[in-house]
Amino acid sequence: MIKNEVLEYNVDQDGVAIISINMVNAPTNLFSFPFIKTYLEIAQKAVEDEQVKGLIITSGHRDFMAGADLRMLLSPPEDKQAFLDDILLMHQQFRNLETCGKPFVAAINGTALGGGYELALTCHKRFALNNPKLKIGLPEVQLGLFPGGGGTQRLTRLIGIAPALTNILQARQFRPAAALEENYVDALYDTNEELLAAAKTWILENPKVAQAWDQRGHKVPGGGLMSKNGVQTMAGAIGNLRKKTHGNYPGAQYAMAAIHDGIELPIDRALEIEARYFVGAVYSPEAKNMIRTGFFFMNEAKKGKARPKDQAFYPVKKIGILGAGMMGAGIAYVSAKRGMDVVLKDISIEGAEKGKAYSQKILAKQQSKGRLNAEQVQATLDKIKTTVEASDLEGCDLVIEAVFENQALKAKVTAETEAVLAENKIYASNTSTIPITLLAQASKRPENFIGIHFFSPVDKMPLVEIIVGEKTSDYAIAAAVDYVTQIGKVPIVVNDSRGFFTSRVFGVYTGEGALLLEEGVPPVMIDNIAKRVGMPVGPLAVTDEVALSLCLHVMDAAGEDKWSDAEKRIYAVYAKMVRELGREGKKVGKGFYDYPENAKKHMWKGLEELFPSNVDYLDGETVGKRLLHRMALESYRCLDESVLRTTKDGDLGSLLGFGFPPYTGGVFAYIDYVGLDKFIVECDDFANRFGARFAVPDSLRQRAKDGKTFY
Ligand code: NAI
Repeated sequence: MIKNEVLEYNVDQDGVAIISINMVNAPTNLFSFPFIKTYLEIAQKAVEDEQVKGLIITSGHRDFMAGADLRMLLSPPEDKQAFLDDILLMHQQFRNLETCGKPFVAAINGTALGGGYELALTCHKRFALNNPKLKIGLPEVQLGLFPGGGGTQRLTRLIGIAPALTNILQARQFRPAAALEENYVDALYDTNEELLAAAKTWILENPKVAQAWDQRGHKVPGGGLMSKNGVQTMAGAIGNLRKKTHGNYPGAQYAMAAIHDGIELPIDRALEIEARYFVGAVYSPEAKNMIRTGFFFMNEAKKGKARPKDQAFYPVKKIGILGAGMMGAGIAYVSAKRGMDVVLKDISIEGAEKGKAYSQKILAKQQSKGRLNAEQVQATLDKIKTTVEASDLEGCDLVIEAVFENQALKAKVTAETEAVLAENKIYASNTSTIPITLLAQASKRPENFIGIHFFSPVDKMPLVEIIVGEKTSDYAIAAAVDYVTQIGKVPIVVNDSRGFFTSRVFGVYTGEGALLLEEGVPPVMIDNIAKRVGMPVGPLAVTDEVALSLCLHVMDAAGEDKWSDAEKRIYAVYAKMVRELGREGKKVGKGFYDYPENAKKHMWKGLEELFPSNVDYLDGETVGKRLLHRMALESYRCLDESVLRTTKDGDLGSLLGFGFPPYTGGVFAYIDYVGLDKFIVECDDFANRFGARFAVPDSLRQRAKDGKTFY
């Protein structure tokens, strides 16, 4: 028996060895070089031990193995060659085990993702526990990487080019039943005992084994690269990848290249090719950006890093929601789903019931997919009590107001609610535009008044922006963060200002789209270039979605006297569309686009006449940079004005709140990615050519002089 910090090794009386991975000092088992070194040494000894007939690899921790140690991948060693050599050596040693003849079985008794599943792929069989909580797959592409622990080669040889490509490029994770269907695992067992017993039986019945790819005449399932199937798959996949990523995600491109270049070669050579591409991916700025923001910042935020440290945890057991419209209904659902008692209030009981029906609809859908049973659906619905009486809000830990966007109305419901809400409880507004400090003037307890700003649709959007008013206390901030983490969403905390952080920066995106249009960039080009640089939806299309009329309304609310010259031009574009032409946006079937009933939307033909355009006016690169630089610069202003408290909040908020491209790592990481000096030169040029909104704040220039980066 061997027991150390990462694993336990035992051999039973029948000569079956078990390596039980158990990283006692880590929250989960992680794939890292120190682990691999220990694992390979012990496995190699077992192989050399004549008494050992075969090995079971399993886990003594919560997960089988959750993936690679991302700290190592975020800051890999400076010496790239040494890193590559380490990977090549690792491959060789895994190959020694794989080809030794003794059977290895992975007994997957917990989640096996990324490097964890790649470890299982080096085994000759994969048996898994049939626990629906468990996930299996290779999701590395999500973080700008790809399966570089042999995954691209072994999985493709195991299941075929088409499914391997799809699953790897889409970062798919499977529950056990689906993993079995996809041939990711060979069998499922209901209990850990059965799982281990089956692994042992298989080992004893198969004393001499080899991987399929080490057998003479092995053929890739579904056909090799040059088969009709293979050619079609690759041609389709290359086009698809281009269409989806526009070349912005090297990790995904490397994954495809590794499969393409490696699949016809002997596996040892193929692993070497994979390793070279992997080094390319790991050292790419895109991977760093995605790991830093998409993993580290995201996890910190989810765990409530933003909360003031000296405050006690604030459990929310009962929550009141004012207004059962689109937002209130969504907030009621996500709260009830996490077991909170919800009081959903509207002006009529029909209105409140309609809001509750929204939960019923979502739950019924989940039930039809087999994810919930009838009792679970009912239990969640029973958590939501509909009412028209403010007195029912008594006993709430938190009340969130989501009535119409009208300051006087909001003031009225604040007073009504505070009359029944206990003095030490929190009152929040979901306003999307009105400053919290203004709304808090209607409150008797402004220190307990805060903004909790959800995004639509509430059940799908992970981000929640918490807004701190002038008088909001740390106690209220902690409570809001704790509530958001309790409902499993991602909080960022920002200071008060019109539009807060996300709406303000989103507003400059749609605004820049309108300016480009007005200046004469062809409208189709504007939206296409936006997607080319990685935005999920072009500025004109998204303006249609939120409605041009709403954009007008928001600008009106801010007040004409506060508009810059550029904003006056933006307003004129919206006003022309809405007031002269009735083109309010998608909701009325016409905006910048036309929305025919039974066909795809298309850019409205009249737009070119209204705003005559010239393809040669600006090149695509300038259009793309105007959109992204503009958002990054506005975010920097938010930081400068202390609307944003940290760059992390800005980066995470930009990714989750308005779809800033993940490969950039967010608005601040984007400035690093472009290079601060270059960013400033380009903004200066834009300020000269396009207007003062591109003016660079002095503090940013100073930052460049000091040679400081954001990360
Ligand atoms: P909505 O119009 O769908 O719902 C408002 C609801 O409030 C209606 O059901 C109305 O009957 C109810 N209501 C009016 N007076 C009331 C009172 N005195 N007591 C209780 N209920 C009352 O509006 P929506 O879209 O849900 O927006 C609500 C708030 O959320 C607004 O402040 C809005 O700015 C904000 N918001 C909206 C987002 C969106 O995407 N729609 C996103 C983020 C925030």
